[in-house]
Amino acid sequence: MTLDKETVVGIIGAGTMGAGIAQIASTNGHEVYLYDAYAEQLPKAKSGLEKILNRQVEKGRMSQEEVDGILSRIHFVEDITEFGKCGFVIEAIVENIDIKKDAFQRLEGIVSKECILASNTSSLSIASISSALKKPERFLGVHFFNPAPLMKLVEIIPSVATDSDLAQSTKEFISGWGKITVLAKDTPGFIVNRVARPFYSEALRILEEGVADVPTIDWAMKEIGGFRMGPFKLMDLIGHDVNYEVTSSVFKEFYYDPRFKPSFTQKRLVEAGWLGRKSGKGFYNYGEGAKNPDPNTDKELGEEILHRILVMLINEAFDAVFMNIGSAEDVDLAMQNGVNYPKGLLAWAEEIGLENVLGRMNALYEEYQEDRYRPNPLLKRMVREKQ
Ligand code: NAI
Repeated sequence: MTLDKETVVGIIGAGTMGAGIAQIASTNGHEVYLYDAYAEQLPKAKSGLEKILNRQVEKGRMSQEEVDGILSRIHFVEDITEFGKCGFVIEAIVENIDIKKDAFQRLEGIVSKECILASNTSSLSIASISSALKKPERFLGVHFFNPAPLMKLVEIIPSVATDSDLAQSTKEFISGWGKITVLAKDTPGFIVNRVARPFYSEALRILEEGVADVPTIDWAMKEIGGFRMGPFKLMDLIGHDVNYEVTSSVFKEFYYDPRFKPSFTQKRLVEAGWLGRKSGKGFYNYGEGAKNPDPNTDKELGEEILHRILVMLINEAFDAVFMNIGSAEDVDLAMQNGVNYPKGLLAWAEEIGLENVLGRMNALYEEYQEDRYRPNPLLKRMVREKQ
C-alpha cells in the first residue's frame, strides 16, 4: 500500500498517546478514526483535544477554521469495524503484550490486506507483538514521545519479520507530518529509553553514595549541564512507578546486564507510594507551600557530578552505535528530540574530547571494578585510532 495524503489513519486507544497522535495525523490533513475499547474514553479524548486546540486559537497560533477542520477529520468511533477504511493503523493501548496481541488479531480480521499496522509500544518487542499476526511483514513499531504533538521524535522500528521496504516508506510518511524520524533496531528501549538510562541511574548512584543530595545533583545537571530538568525533578514528573518499571524492564530484557541495574532508592519510593508530582511527594514535596532544600552550588562538585553522569550517557550512546541500534546521526537526533538533551551525546563527546571521556570511564572502572562502568569498545577504538 502506498502511504500518502489520502491515507486514512486509524488509531486504537484514545488515551494520552492515541489522542495526541490523532491530533497530529488530522492536522496533517488525514481522515482519522479513533477507537477505544472503553466507550467513555472517547468523549474524554474529544473534549481534551477541543481544549488543547481552542487554546491554540486563543493564543493566535491557529485559526478557528483550522481547528474546526482538524476536529471534523477525527471520527471518534465505538465500532472498530470502521477501520476497514484505514490504510495505516497505529495502536496505542495499554502496555500489555497479551492485550496488544489480541487487539491486533481482531484488527487483522477487519482491515484490508494492504493496511499497514504499527504499535506505539515503548517497551515490548516488536517481534513479539508481530507473532500474533497472519501477515507480520506489514507490521512495525512507530514510537512517539509524550506529548506527541509537541515532541518531534518518532522512532521507527522494523522487526525481523517486517517487509524490507516498509520501515523506509513509513519513515518518509511520518517525516511528512513534520516529525524527526530515526530508525532503531528492535531491542529493549530502542534508542532513547536505552541511552537515557544513566541519566537516572547514575544520578541515583551518586545520591546513594552520599556524594551529593537531590537538589545539588539536579542543580549541576540543569545549571552547569544545560539539561532542561535535573534527573530527580524529571523522575518525579514521569512518576517513579513508570520510570522504575522502564528501568526494570530494560534490565530484565538485557539478561540482567549490570549496566541497567535498577535502584533500591527508587524502588522504596514506589513501595511507599511516593510516586512524584502526581502523588504530591517523590524526591521533592509538592504540597501547597512545600519547602525543599537548596542545592550546594559548589562549582567543582557540580562539574564532577555533571561529568560522571555525562560520560555514562556518552558511553551508552557509543554502545547504541557499536551494536547497530541506530546510526551515529540518528542516536544524536534521538536524544535531542526525544528527551530534549541540549546536545547530541556523540557531538558532546567530540566537544569535550574522546580521550577525556575514555579517561573518566577508565577511572570509574578502575575505582569500582564494576561492569556498569566498562568503557565501550567503539569509544576505545576511536581514541586509539585518533592517536
Ligand atoms: P493511556 O492509559 O493514556 O491510554 C490507553 C487507552 O487504551 C485507554 O484509553 C484505554 O481505555 C484503551 N484501551 C485499553 N485496552 C484497549 C483495547 N484492548 N482496545 C482498545 N483500547 C484499549 O496510555 P498511554 O500513555 O496513551 O499509552 C499507550 C501506549 O503508548 C502504551 O503502549 C505506552 O507504552 C505507549 N507510550 C506511552 C508514552 C507515555 O509517555 N504515556 C510514551 C510513548 C509510548
